[in-house]
Amino acid sequence: MNKKSPVSRSGRFNRGPAADVAQFTESVSFDWRLWRHDILGSMAHAEMLHKIGVLKKHELHAIVRGLNKIGLEIRTGKFKWKPELEDVHMNIEAELTRRAPAGAKLHTARSRNDQVALDVRMWLRDEIVLLLGEIVGLQRALVSLGEKNADVIIPGYTHLQRAQPVYLAHNLLAYVEMLERDCERLWDCHSRVNVCPLGSGAIAGSTLPLDRMLVAKLLGFMDASGKVQLTQNSMDAVSDRDFAVEFCAAAALLAVHLSRLAEDVILWVSAEFNFIKIADAYTTGSSLMPQKKNPDIAELARGKTGRVFGNLMSLLTLLKGLPMTYNRDLQEDKERLLDTADTVRATTRLMAAMLSNTKVNKPVCACAAADPALLATDLADYLVKKGMPFRQAHHVVGAVVALAEKTGKPLNQLTLAELQSVNPTFGRDALGVFNLKTAMAKRNLTGAPGTKEVAKQLARWREQLS
Ligand code: ARG
Repeated sequence: MNKKSPVSRSGRFNRGPAADVAQFTESVSFDWRLWRHDILGSMAHAEMLHKIGVLKKHELHAIVRGLNKIGLEIRTGKFKWKPELEDVHMNIEAELTRRAPAGAKLHTARSRNDQVALDVRMWLRDEIVLLLGEIVGLQRALVSLGEKNADVIIPGYTHLQRAQPVYLAHNLLAYVEMLERDCERLWDCHSRVNVCPLGSGAIAGSTLPLDRMLVAKLLGFMDASGKVQLTQNSMDAVSDRDFAVEFCAAAALLAVHLSRLAEDVILWVSAEFNFIKIADAYTTGSSLMPQKKNPDIAELARGKTGRVFGNLMSLLTLLKGLPMTYNRDLQEDKERLLDTADTVRATTRLMAAMLSNTKVNKPVCACAAADPALLATDLADYLVKKGMPFRQAHHVVGAVVALAEKTGKPLNQLTLAELQSVNPTFGRDALGVFNLKTAMAKRNLTGAPGTKEVAKQLARWREQLS
């Protein structure tokens, strides 16, 4: 048994926790990462306690000076974290009080329950902004790769079967759109993260006349119009982790998008596709097969989706059926949240770096895109323009494809006589359909992969991301 009591154990206890209890309950081994926000929160709280007369000026100064010094020591790796003090909050407060007796007043009208809610919200607020920066970086990398290869056409796939030709840029911009929705979701989540819970105390606020508005203002809890954001129910405030679930859900969808992009990259670097080549620095080798160059960044991006989904599931399960209000279960939120933020941020960053170091194999793409079967639908459209109902045109072109297969010819090598043997509607101009350049020029609906439309979309994204 540990005789020395941590600060969290009041006079009610006659001894500290057993060693294995301390080890089981501690969280400082991971929540130390909240230190910066814990210190900022304490400084704002102290400032407010001074304003309402709880702290004298010299006490406030001693507290702020002490917290600054502790912050510096943590940043430079000199601070000694003590697991027996449980968490980041107790470690910093205990050390502050050891150095400045006024530290003992800092916890006035504050509980670790509202303190940890505050710290996590502040930490996540910053994380979201950093993640958004990385997502924009990935969007830029996708747009740049598209711009550098603006004339490259590839087969577009459905069911992983060649379907219709698309500009490579169009395929890449599809991911830019997905990532944009991720940004919107993260911003939306940010608005609910950005609400100040401090002043909620352990569960029921405080009898002291706290100035919650001041604390929230000092800590930047304001919406875009400058309106201060305060939680409106102390019981909800200390037990709400919806904002963490929302972030993990938005991150899970981002991870889905990253893994889909990763899968396209993995297919495209295979010898079977051979559409792109990733620079050596962004690939890895095999320990056995000397010829191998593997797309490990993309594979890990795909693989890491598992833990991001798992973290979301853990959080939801953690919260399900919890009685009001704070329960120690909530300590389990941190590792899931930290891991999610770390994982999606690093993955987004590495995918961007990898794409910035990727070259397109233009001759191979051109060869794949020259497959005339990709324009079979255009041939049906040709018949529609001649007045044939689409269902019939679809059937006729199907028969043309079968004839090409039977005669062992590519679709565009059939003679007019052969086409007309299937249906007399085909005219001399029918084979003109297979000119890829004109075919691409015709696809100019909004959102289609036409020459002008893709150039327009590239320009729009370039402008929006600059
Ligand atoms: N380490 C705790 C957590 O992460 C801080 C709050 C502890 N509160 C308490 N009443 N024991 O949730």
